Amino acid sequence: MRYHYFLLITLLICAAAADAQNARKTESFNTGWKFFLGDEPRAQNSTFDDAKWRSLHLPHDWSIEGRFDQKNPTTQAEGGLPAGIGWYRKSFTLPLSAQNKNIFIDFEGVYHNSEVWINGHYLGKRPNGYISFRYAITPYLNFGRKKNVIAVRVDNSDQPNSRWYTGSGIYRNVWLITTAKTYLTNWRTFITTPKVNDKAAEVALEIGVHQPPSKNKLSLQTTIYNAEGKMVVSQTSPVKNVGDTSIVVHQTLAVSKPKLWSVTRPYLYKVVIKVLQNGKVLDDQSIYTGIRYFNFDADKGFTLNGEPMKIKGVCLHHDQGALGTAVNVRAMERQLQILKAMGCNAIRTSHNAPAPGFLDLCDRMGFLVMDEAFDMWRKKKSKYDYHQDWDKWHVKDLQDQVLRDRNHPSIFAWSIGNEIREQFDTTGISISRELVGIVKQLDKTRPVTSALSEADPKKNFIYQSGALDLVGLNYHQELYANFQKNYPGQKFIGTENMSALATRGHYDMPSDSIRRWPKDGKTPLKDGNPDFTVSAYDNVSAYWGSTHEETWKIIKKYDFLSGLFVWTGFDYIGEPTPYLWPARSSYFGIVDLAGFPKDVYYMYQSEWTTKPVLHLLPHWNWSAGQTIDVWAYYNNADEVEAYLNGKSLGIRKKTGDDLHVMWRVKYEPGTLKAVSRKNGKVIMSTQVVTAGEPYRIQLKADRSHIKADGKDLSYVTVTILDKNHVPVPDAGQLIKFKVGGQGILKAVDNGSQTDLDPFVSNQHRVFNGLGLAIIQSNNKSGKISITAAAEGLQPGQLIIQSGR
Ligand code: GAL
Repeated sequence: MRYHYFLLITLLICAAAADAQNARKTESFNTGWKFFLGDEPRAQNSTFDDAKWRSLHLPHDWSIEGRFDQKNPTTQAEGGLPAGIGWYRKSFTLPLSAQNKNIFIDFEGVYHNSEVWINGHYLGKRPNGYISFRYAITPYLNFGRKKNVIAVRVDNSDQPNSRWYTGSGIYRNVWLITTAKTYLTNWRTFITTPKVNDKAAEVALEIGVHQPPSKNKLSLQTTIYNAEGKMVVSQTSPVKNVGDTSIVVHQTLAVSKPKLWSVTRPYLYKVVIKVLQNGKVLDDQSIYTGIRYFNFDADKGFTLNGEPMKIKGVCLHHDQGALGTAVNVRAMERQLQILKAMGCNAIRTSHNAPAPGFLDLCDRMGFLVMDEAFDMWRKKKSKYDYHQDWDKWHVKDLQDQVLRDRNHPSIFAWSIGNEIREQFDTTGISISRELVGIVKQLDKTRPVTSALSEADPKKNFIYQSGALDLVGLNYHQELYANFQKNYPGQKFIGTENMSALATRGHYDMPSDSIRRWPKDGKTPLKDGNPDFTVSAYDNVSAYWGSTHEETWKIIKKYDFLSGLFVWTGFDYIGEPTPYLWPARSSYFGIVDLAGFPKDVYYMYQSEWTTKPVLHLLPHWNWSAGQTIDVWAYYNNADEVEAYLNGKSLGIRKKTGDDLHVMWRVKYEPGTLKAVSRKNGKVIMSTQVVTAGEPYRIQLKADRSHIKADGKDLSYVTVTILDKNHVPVPDAGQLIKFKVGGQGILKAVDNGSQTDLDPFVSNQHRVFNGLGLAIIQSNNKSGKISITAAAEGLQPGQLIIQSGR
């Protein structure tokens, strides 16, 4: 009996080992690269000596390591950081056992014009800097002791080629994929949920299998697991080998009583697909899916799983502030957490394919995503932008984006382009039809839109194409109330809105007079602030947009307006409207570049969440006798009373469509307090206090325990406090950091839009009282110590734990 038991276990172990041996291997290919900034054509040869090159790990953005300079050819639009040409090389060996396998290399994104060689063999060029691509490298590989060399040339020297900061280099992950000769075709698995109700959901699969001509009988086994890891349903079907090398198999599985994916409960099922031959696993793949349904209605707006829901979205560019565009999951997760806490439920990936990891986070955290493909078609916006590659590449790039992304439950719309110039002439008609056709061929489950800036339906040829499922309007909020009249029967989405401007912690009065900076397309800004700041009272916007309150009031009012995407959730590097140099990053964010919310964040939070909000602004360090506008954003209450040094300034109530209340106050130093009440009962109270002289540095980490994986981050906020622990709102000291133990100081920032000191440094000024140090773990567990010192201030100290 015992013997049988032993035999059974041995057999099981062997079967598992065979599984592991035969199934696919997906290895991170990020570590151990060599890098050279400059051009070195000889580096494509495998014999080239790169010993003197810099060693680094991917993802890597070399631009962010550079200096801001007005003279850099990227121009102010891209933040004035350097670009140029760079080379990457990596040497590696493969076991002899891999000889009868198929090996691929996957690049998630390289900016841009990448060219790749393996062992001196040219694999190809991919101009698009945002698209993911794969090369099959099996025939060119060495196995056993002989090494392989992969070389990548990245050419971002054709400047300017973007209207925002792109970064330069292999800025996303690289993977090495090893499969059997029979394998699941890349991006050919498509999971949809054509029928969903409370009782059951139909999960339909289309699965691509690549099989060399053979007589072997294959089968496909699909198993769906719930979020708790329990098997829900499984199906095995035979694969008909028709002598072809590419086979598509269809399966339909039923999930009873499905738990639906939503933005508040992003429930994911795991779909495991196995290609089997006589019980042996030849290849396998796991894909997370969400079961959900949604609808846009011309009268009632958007519903998710049958429930009406306003799309409360933001547009995001892809940089992670001081980290540049080098992809980091924690950095993206933090950004999404900050937006989630504001009540944001949707992201528009303006204006390009995002990192795959970003979409994974949106699936997991509950964000709807509008996945956008292009910022230009054949007509350019910048001299050397993608228009040059349009004819040759747009079909492949768009196909690949849809194929790569279509299994993400978070994606609820495709956008074929942003403010495309072809909207103004008849070429817009044919190109729109072509692009929508490409998308529909690969995915019929989501609507297609385009972000239109010409709001006159008669003059907009993209709209005239009749190909769009959703009319996406950028700005023109003054026309939204009449949308149903102007676009009869059409469905609305605000693809891009506001373009309001603000510098965190800066306030220009009177707060109730609205500035349009610049005021039109012809006049450069003359009455801007000499220090390149913009008021954070939500009283400034670009002329084509509006303040946050102006547009939100309209969207909120009409059901047929399904929602909007605020330009932008976070400040980004580049496009520093309304100023010239030294402004180098944008002013549009609800949150600044360092991740510190501007005041209007709390307007959204008071409107977009149900959690109690009471936010008081501005700071309370002014000159005696000055008249100061005090604002409060609040919710869940019917009034707010403000007090200055204990004396009531009066009760204010939002009336009509008000989104804030205001008091005009003669300044005196001390404590400004606000209390919100509902039916006379205190709901919340908050205060701002006049700060004295800067006295000490406070360090606070967003996470005090991080993973010792060489990737994880802790964001440490630097606050300058006075003797009484009150934050000093205008502090601007130079802080010197020392980081010891099992981590490094990855980058520094302060959210200022004009600070030209580098992000990769061990010192940085605080701006309006705040600074940021981004700490990264190494691969060892232990303590990371951070000290921050500045002349005349008590230093700050902090310990972060890094572990497994
Ligand atoms: C829009 C454009 C965005 C950004 C924004 C700034 O017109 O689509 O990419 O440039 O303006 O306000």
